[in-house]
Amino acid sequence: MADPAARLPDTSVARPRHVAIIMDGNGRWAVNKGWPRLVGHRKGAERVKQLVRACPDLGVNWLTLYAFSTENWKRTTEEVLGLMAIFARYIEREAEGLSAEGVRMRFIGGRERLDGRLQRLMAGIEAKTAMNTRLNLTVAINYGGRDEIVRASRRLADKIARGEVFEPNEADFAACLDTAGHPDPDLVIRSSGETRTSNFLPFQAAYSEYEFTPTLWPDFTPDHLAEILDRFSLRDRRFGSA
Ligand code: IPE
Ligand code: IPE
Ligand code: MG
Repeated sequence: MADPAARLPDTSVARPRHVAIIMDGNGRWAVNKGWPRLVGHRKGAERVKQLVRACPDLGVNWLTLYAFSTENWKRTTEEVLGLMAIFARYIEREAEGLSAEGVRMRFIGGRERLDGRLQRLMAGIEAKTAMNTRLNLTVAINYGGRDEIVRASRRLADKIARGEVFEPNEADFAACLDTAGHPDPDLVIRSSGETRTSNFLPFQAAYSEYEFTPTLWPDFTPDHLAEILDRFSLRDRRFGSA
């Protein structure tokens, strides 16, 4: 049976080991400038490249990025297809660089609804970078926390039916989530001034610290992250203790 203590964040360091980001505000950034929303998404992807490079030096070993939610299918076909093309291009262009920089790239979210070519690119880069440890980069595509919980419940039910698990505990459930084996995020950041979580990691972020910044995602630089990390180090995380 999995150890429940394994998921508790490390409190011995003031720096967050695992940062999760709701990258919001691409559309507004572009529209404010009179440009199509996709221009904002492209600029947002450039920011991701910079941030991924900066994370190891900032002491961040796990970075989880919310790129496309289960609710984002409500957008126009043009925007959805444009975003999917950006994801595919990111993987194709960054594969070599990420490997060389020691980044392990993984994805969470339901894959079956994604285009077959994108699914193959995702599986390919996961395999190619599987041995890397310098930065664990997880990208959430077609991810919804409620959807993940339902899918995890099905997996757990299967394990119970097979007799692999009896009287499941929190750790047994966590082991059925898309993030099985990942530490919980210490800090969740949302850009663009919205103060909601929009279905992002509801189970995993139950004890995360939150930081909401008005900066729109295409303007978010590694310096913004460094500033937020400094503030995080002053927080008193009690996890229910006195
Ligand atoms: C975040 O930016 C990216 C995705 C949700 C895919 P938005 O596209 O939500 O930007 P705003 O919130 O409309 O400005
Ligand atoms: C959350 O942003 C999803 C991502 C950043 C991928 P949204 O822009 O979709 O969220 P809402 O609609 O403002 O809640
Ligand atoms: Mg938004």
